[in-house]
Amino acid sequence: MRVAFVGKGGSGKTTLSSLFARYAATRARVVAIDADINQHLALVLGAEQPRPLGGMLTEIKDHLRGDNPRIPSASVMVKTTPPGRGSRLLTLDDPFFPSVEVQGLRLMATGPFGEDDLGVACYHSKVGAVELYLNHLVDGPGEYVVVDMTAGADSFASGMFTKFDVTFLVVEPTRQGVSVYRQYQEYAAEFDVAIAVVGNKVQTADDRAFLRDQVGPDLLTCLDHSPAVRAMEQGRAFTLDDLEPGNLAGLQTLLDRVDAAEKDWAKFGRQAHEFHLRNARAWADRATGCDLADQIDPGFIFGSVALESEMRAAAGRP
Ligand SMILES: Nc1ncnc2c1ncn2[C@@H]1O[C@H](COP(=O)(O)OP(=O)(O)OP(=O)(O)O)[C@@H](O)[C@H]1O
Ligand SMILES: [Mg+2]
Repeated sequence: MRVAFVGKGGSGKTTLSSLFARYAATRARVVAIDADINQHLALVLGAEQPRPLGGMLTEIKDHLRGDNPRIPSASVMVKTTPPGRGSRLLTLDDPFFPSVEVQGLRLMATGPFGEDDLGVACYHSKVGAVELYLNHLVDGPGEYVVVDMTAGADSFASGMFTKFDVTFLVVEPTRQGVSVYRQYQEYAAEFDVAIAVVGNKVQTADDRAFLRDQVGPDLLTCLDHSPAVRAMEQGRAFTLDDLEPGNLAGLQTLLDRVDAAEKDWAKFGRQAHEFHLRNARAWADRATGCDLADQIDPGFIFGSVALESEMRAAAGRP
């Protein structure tokens, strides 16, 4: 299952991504990905920064296109290019993507948006590496991918937000927090994306009532303002056992929500194709000089069927 944390700047996306990923990792296999412009997830998890995926786009494209005849070179592969027959599909433990092991999980990162990037690359091309990864990943039961997304509506500016089984929208109990929720609700409805709201930094019964009143049934649960998280921020040692019982219960509610979601590979494939066509028409056809609609393989079936046949083909390769 793939899970994204989105929300307003400072609402707690990185904090909740890290806590949720650590919590899920006590029960299952977890890959956490920092896809924010400001890379903080490694710091919060106490890890070294992994090698940035954003700096190895061409290698990633060459790896993923495999021997898909519709993608003859990395230069015609764009972030939305979907897998087809011959593409290399990924499992959660794929060794090609650089990661670091920390807190029982694998951490990957797009890498920071540096000074050098100004004018030559945009944030979306960097997170394109994550989009390609998610497009080619076939995650199975008992596996979780947790992505810390960039702040605000920017996370809706690419096709990334259609790559998740559940999107957690982190909302503080303020009017501004709620207005971001309403904006996201509209985008999500337009693209048939499942959103669950997680209240965060809740301090009082009034905070809780405010969120319940403003968000209604989309409000899944609330996490309280946590002295344990604050202590962690101040550099003190932290384990999940230090977390307040109410906040631990909140993490379990998130996990239950993810486990209750139904994997819908057909929808995933449909949306991957739809966003690829949009992207092709908007700029990518012009940029590559090709009709990128040809990269869509109508005979390719997303999900475990494709993975199994790819594995059979790989076993037959010299
Ligand atoms: N439940 C919580 N209890 C206490 N402090 C919290 C909680 N959630 C987040 N914080 C604190 O709020 C601040 C912002 O959190 P965080 O960095 O996770 O937000 P973010 O949404 O990832 O921000 P950005 O948009 O900058 O990436 C941090 O100092 C963090 O420790
Ligand atoms: Mg953050």
